[in-house]
Amino acid sequence: METEAAHGVWPTNRKDETPGVADTNAGENAKTPETAEKPPSRILSGIQPTGRLHIGNYFGMMEPAIRLQDEGDAFYFIADYHALTTVHDPATMRENVAGVATDFLSAGLDPSKATFFRQSDVPEVAELSWFLSTVCPIGFLERAHSFKDKTARGIDATHGLFAYPVLMAADILVYDSNIVPVGKDQKQHLEITRDLAGKFNDRFGDGVFTIPEPRIAETGSTASVPGLDGQKMSKSYNNTLELFEEEKKTRKKIMKIVTDATAMEDPKPTEESTLLDYYRLFASDDEVAEMIASFKAGGTGYGHYKQQVFEKLWERFAPMRERREKLLADPDYVEDILRTGAKRARRLAQATLARVREATGIAGHPISLR
Ligand code: AMP
Ligand code: TRP
Repeated sequence: METEAAHGVWPTNRKDETPGVADTNAGENAKTPETAEKPPSRILSGIQPTGRLHIGNYFGMMEPAIRLQDEGDAFYFIADYHALTTVHDPATMRENVAGVATDFLSAGLDPSKATFFRQSDVPEVAELSWFLSTVCPIGFLERAHSFKDKTARGIDATHGLFAYPVLMAADILVYDSNIVPVGKDQKQHLEITRDLAGKFNDRFGDGVFTIPEPRIAETGSTASVPGLDGQKMSKSYNNTLELFEEEKKTRKKIMKIVTDATAMEDPKPTEESTLLDYYRLFASDDEVAEMIASFKAGGTGYGHYKQQVFEKLWERFAPMRERREKLLADPDYVEDILRTGAKRARRLAQATLARVREATGIAGHPISLR
C-alpha cells in the first residue's frame, strides 16, 4: 500500500478487510439471518490478454466494472488460461498480460477497492472447471456462438476452445459471484454459467453455488460498440480504436471511419451512423443533440464531425494517459498488485473447492506436501 501512496494514483482506504465479511460470508446470502447486515455483493469480471484494449472493451466491460467497484466487493482478473486458446507465443502472452494489467489500472481500476489478479494464479479454477464439466451437456457447448464464430475465423477447434464456457463458469462460481458486468457478446456464456450452477446444485445440494446475474452494459445507443468499419469492434476484425494509442494514429483512424457518400451541403442521415454512435459515447446529451441538428441541417462535411469525435475522445482519456505514464515506469508495482490480489482470490477459491469436494464426496483429505 505504501507504493500506492508514493505514486499518488489512488487513495489507500481499502474498505473491505473486515474479517468474516467479504471473505467468508459471500455466497451464503441465503443463510444470512434477516437481522444480520447483508454482506456486500460480489462483482466479478475478466478480460482476455489477447491484444491492446479498445473502446469496445472500455465501454462494454471496463467502465461499468470500474463504476461497480464502489458498490460491492469487486474481483477483476486477466483471463490468461482463456487466452491460451488463441495466444501461443509465451513472450506475447507475458507482454499482453502486463499490458492489460497496466491499462486496466490506468483506466481507473482501483486496487484499494477491487481485487485485481491473474486467472492462472488461482489454479483452483481449473479444478472447478472439471467438476462443472461433469454436469455440462455437450449440447450447451455445441450451441455456443463464440465457439462457432472463432472456428469460422480459422482458430483451431481444440477441446480448450470448446470447453471455454465451462472454465468461464468456474471463474464466476469459484468466487461466489453475484453480479457479472460484461459486454453483450458474453450473455450466452452467463446463461450457461447459471445453468451449470443450477444443475450442480440440483445434483449435489442447494447452496453449493450462488447463481450469478449478468449486468450487460448499454454502450451509448447500441448494445455493442461498433468498429471503424461499422461491424462490432473486435481485436480480431482489425477495426478497433485503442484506448492508448499515439495521438496521430488515433486521429488517422477516426478520419477513416466509414461514412456514406452524402455531399457536404446535404443533410446527413442520423440513423446507423458510426460517427454519431462514437460521439454519444464521449459527448454530453446537449452536444449530441447539437451534432444531430447539424447533421439534419446539412452544410457541414463528415471531416468536421470526425475532428469533433477525436477531440472528445482524446480529452476523455487524458487523465488515464497520465496515470499510465506513471505505471509504465514501475512494472514491479503492477506485478505486486496482481500478486496481492491473487492471494485474496485464492483464499476464497480454496474455500469453494473444499465445499465442492465435500458435496461430491471427492477426496476429503488433500495431502499436504509440507
Ligand atoms: P474480450 O476482448 O473478448 O476479452 O472482451 C472483454 C470484454 O469487453 C467483454 O466483456 C466483452 O463483452 C467486452 N467487449 C468486447 N468488444 C466489445 C464491443 N465492441 N462492444 C461492447 N463490449 C465489448
Ligand atoms: N469470456 C470473456 C471474454 O472473452 C472473458 C472472461 C473469462 C470472463 N472468464 C470470465 C468474463 C468470467 C466475465 C466473467 O470477454
